[in-house]
Amino acid sequence: MSHVLILGGDGYLGWPTAMYFSNRGYQVTVVDNYFRRNACTELDTGMLYPVPTLIERAKIWHEKTGHEIKVVIGNLTEPDVMRQLFDGTVSYQWAVNDAFTGLPDTVVHYAEQPSAPYSLLDYKHADITLTNNLRVTNNLLWAVRDFSRDTHIIKLGTMGEYGTPNIDIEEGWLDIEHKGRKGKFLFPRAAGSLYHTTKVMDTDLSWFAVRMWDLKVTDLMQGPVYGIETEESLIDPRLNTIFNYDEIFGTIVNRFVTQSVVGYPLTVYGKGGQTRGYLNIKDTLQCVHASEKTPADTGELRIFNQIMETFSVNQLAELAQNVGNARGHKVEIKSIPNPRREAEEHYYNPTYQGLKNIGVEPHYLTEDVMHGLFEVVEKFKQNIRKDVIFKGVKWG
Ligand SMILES: NC(=O)c1ccc[n+]([C@@H]2O[C@H](COP(=O)([O-])OP(=O)(O)OC[C@H]3O[C@@H](n4cnc5c(N)ncnc54)[C@H](O)[C@@H]3O)[C@@H](O)[C@H]2O)c1
Repeated sequence: MSHVLILGGDGYLGWPTAMYFSNRGYQVTVVDNYFRRNACTELDTGMLYPVPTLIERAKIWHEKTGHEIKVVIGNLTEPDVMRQLFDGTVSYQWAVNDAFTGLPDTVVHYAEQPSAPYSLLDYKHADITLTNNLRVTNNLLWAVRDFSRDTHIIKLGTMGEYGTPNIDIEEGWLDIEHKGRKGKFLFPRAAGSLYHTTKVMDTDLSWFAVRMWDLKVTDLMQGPVYGIETEESLIDPRLNTIFNYDEIFGTIVNRFVTQSVVGYPLTVYGKGGQTRGYLNIKDTLQCVHASEKTPADTGELRIFNQIMETFSVNQLAELAQNVGNARGHKVEIKSIPNPRREAEEHYYNPTYQGLKNIGVEPHYLTEDVMHGLFEVVEKFKQNIRKDVIFKGVKWG
């Protein structure tokens, strides 16, 4: 049985990924320090429903399926916490069998502070974002270098690394001809927040580790994810992933659906022409699995653009409005002054073929899929707090 180690296994994507691999016969270990939950408490953000602790969820998963997900609670910015996952001295906070699983064949690295507005709240939160994200990545690369060079690292990057250039966005690399000579370089990056800047730096750290130590890294440039349900979460509602609907941690589709359900006007920033690539949470799982099955080569930094389709903010607002109104909500769209520094109208043409080439079959954001998302959110309508939806974190 292949062993998958998931860093950030308590998170929005980490927990569904853990169940997905576990359900398919992999040995799974998850690590988390509850950074995200603590940040939600500190900033008083909006959680659609309470979520059991990681240990409780692993126990529920075991009761319901008989599968084991081993749990480590620890801060991965501490080098020893990371290294113990590889040198066999780790102690699990929950496991059916306490024996060391062995070196991971694959590490899925989600363990970062994932919010752009969080990173620009103030100096303190900018500093936490930089130190947290870069230390976890550096600790991981060194642990793999020192203990397990055959381990395939699947790291989550973001499409936000590229910004919105006036040329087509390639999958990670760009062939350049300059003064008659040719070379291949990382696609130019222009991050729009300090969070996104840490992702650019992660990519650079990984590229260094690949060049110097022949590691195998797949870097997934992911767009904003939407959705709650996956095949595994349907087994028991207590297995639902964490769902935020506030400006700090909620992603746009999840926010717009929640705002529609409670009659909070959809907050379109400025002109609303900001266009990005999106994907269903089910496709995040497929993409990570497809990457795991066909690993990067030794000494390769393989980059995929992990999106399935593109939408402007206006298009997403209209889709939420149409579906919301059809379900009897009175959905209003309101343009507000843009708190961010970003182009509100721009060229956007990314390539995203690589993951489909290795077997991913996209789910698209149709009206039917939107209805499904509304259905889940409506069940928890009584939990939604209007006062935490918008904070207006400014970039300037
Ligand atoms: N959700 C999206 O739409 C999206 C889009 C693009 C990229 N990403 C990237 O995907 C990854 C996962 O995103 P997510 O939405 O699941 O975020 P998340 O915050 O829900 O998950 C990250 C998890 O990592 C944990 N973590 C953070 N720092 C840690 C540390 N020092 N030690 C141990 N655990 C730590 C957090 O507690 C959290 O549970 C992130 O790297 C994010 O940048 C997410």
